[in-house]
Amino acid sequence: MRAYLDGHFLPLHEARISPMDRGFLYADGVYEVIPVYSRFPFRLEEHLRRLQNSLDGIRLANPHSLEEWHSKILQLIAETEFDDQALYIQITRGADTRRDACFPENVPQTVFMFSAPLVAPTPEQRESGVRALTAPDIRWLRCDLKSVSLLANVLTRQLSADAGATETIMLRDGFLTEGSASNVFIVKDGVILSPPKDHLILPGITYDVVLELAEKHEAAHEVRRIGEAELRAADEIWITSSSKEVLAITALDNTPVGKDGWRGRPGPVTCQMYAWFCEFKEQVMRRPGA
Ligand code: PDD
Repeated sequence: MRAYLDGHFLPLHEARISPMDRGFLYADGVYEVIPVYSRFPFRLEEHLRRLQNSLDGIRLANPHSLEEWHSKILQLIAETEFDDQALYIQITRGADTRRDACFPENVPQTVFMFSAPLVAPTPEQRESGVRALTAPDIRWLRCDLKSVSLLANVLTRQLSADAGATETIMLRDGFLTEGSASNVFIVKDGVILSPPKDHLILPGITYDVVLELAEKHEAAHEVRRIGEAELRAADEIWITSSSKEVLAITALDNTPVGKDGWRGRPGPVTCQMYAWFCEFKEQVMRRPGA
């Protein structure tokens, strides 16, 4: 696999960073994951805008202009052997000579990228949906920043992994926030509901696509806080992310999701939204920039 580290393209297994890197010592950095379909980076501008927002949020200067990012990303995509990729970007506050929490002076950022094969849900997961567990949201209060400080997400995700489930859906103060690595939508009486993009969730790029599609196709939708009881009484639940796209949750805490007609199987609005998403993806790849 190919990688990019501080100005150089190289095989991933040759990439080395200092143990004094603040990403390693303090998780002092931010990241992005960009899905690449047939070597076309999906929603690149939006991902780079979110990256800028995360950098601003941690007061770290962007080491590259938009043009530089474009050229580096396109080169990495071209050098990678797969057509469908998950391109990872990480920027940290660099490697100092001492361990001190305060921002270092005159230390360049560490910029790392690699592109792995995109792991999409299996046909079986698409057909049947997947299981999720719920857990308390134990993260900090800047979940809108895509920080590499993911320990709470890792521990939370492992809860569902231990139970053979695909995602952990988090609740804070009795309200739905998001999945450990995804945003969550529910459907009630035909209305699509999602939590607002505040400091408690990551502003997902796929989340935005889904709301744009709901708008375009005039599907009833509402962005507002969702209580735990509403989540548990939902007619349908789905998660969104760059790799999962739109994926049905058909069991929550071992209780089948849904109502008569599709209980425990992907519901009609979820299937419709996934179809719209696929159609949109096709269009974008035919007309880059759409
Ligand atoms: N995760 N919420 C969280 C906490 C996430 O980590 C992610 C994505 C999302 C969905 O965002 P998007 O639609 O932009 O992928 C929501 C990525 C894929 C990851 O960490 O690998």
